[in-house]
Amino acid sequence: MKLLFFPFLHYNRAELRQRLAGKTVLLTGASYGIGEALAEALAPTQAHLLLVARTEAKLREVQQRVEAQGGVATVLPCNLAQRDQVQALAAQLAAWPNGIDLVVNNAGHSIRRSIFASLERMHDFERTMELNYYAPVQLLLALIPGLVARQGQIINISAINVLLLPPPHWAAYQASKTAFDQWLRCVGPELQRRGVKTSSIYLPLVRTRMILPTKAYRHMPAMQPHQVAALICRAIIAQRRTYTPWWILPAQLAALLLREPWEAWLGRRR
Ligand SMILES: NC(=O)c1ccc[n+]([C@@H]2O[C@H](COP(=O)([O-])OP(=O)(O)OC[C@H]3O[C@@H](n4cnc5c(N)ncnc54)[C@H](OP(=O)(O)O)[C@@H]3O)[C@@H](O)[C@H]2O)c1
Repeated sequence: MKLLFFPFLHYNRAELRQRLAGKTVLLTGASYGIGEALAEALAPTQAHLLLVARTEAKLREVQQRVEAQGGVATVLPCNLAQRDQVQALAAQLAAWPNGIDLVVNNAGHSIRRSIFASLERMHDFERTMELNYYAPVQLLLALIPGLVARQGQIINISAINVLLLPPPHWAAYQASKTAFDQWLRCVGPELQRRGVKTSSIYLPLVRTRMILPTKAYRHMPAMQPHQVAALICRAIIAQRRTYTPWWILPAQLAALLLREPWEAWLGRRR
């Protein structure tokens, strides 16, 4: 059943190596979960991986595993929820020798909290916007000229709920993921005209540290980080605009037709 909903997607390793030969890849959120799995999947390509996250010790572990596979990685610790740190990182990356060819915007943080438990917590809405929206915007504003010069690619790790019905308790996360998704969709065609490809990957549940606090998710079917890494490798090769699970269309149709009864039912639940 799990394999039906989340089949393993193979990719051509030789094509990936060819695509990334001599390239530099910025990977945010490389210390855990999807980012960690992607760093390992990209290691054999010998692309230069720039690994960004807060936990430097964990990034160094990932770097060692990349290097053990013959890859090349540089660790760039940064708290992407801090505007001054993002600004310093953006300046460093804009001046990176030989430039950056591929940006994988993957760092993210989710918060599940009722609005009634959030009344004194404006900072929840600020920190999700800082990390999930302003940080990638600020980095890309600095990197777009280089990406145009190198005919590069931007891959955004988005969430499937951005395309479906927003669930209660996820206002901070959902709004911030939707904000960046909309931003990239707006600038995508302009970038494409200048030779920069953009890809949005809409993920269902993925079994990572992020979903651990939500009890209800423990027994729900979920993708594994290495499956998502394979999906991102396919996106690097094929450079399509969007990647969604095969069942997105029926799910979107249901979201369109059932919005009113669904929201009415949620409003009556205790
Ligand atoms: N898991 C899911 O079900 C799911 C579903 C849809 C979409 N996604 C998206 O997938 C992406 C990766 O999430 P994941 O599931 O792999 O979660 P994860 O295992 O918690 O990894 C999140 C990554 O983001 C980094 N990060 C968090 N806060 C940061 C900050 N302030 N500054 C810099 N880096 C920060 C973390 O590193 P440090 O803690 O070391 O900073 C870590 O490397 C996210 O964008 C998420 O929205 C996940």
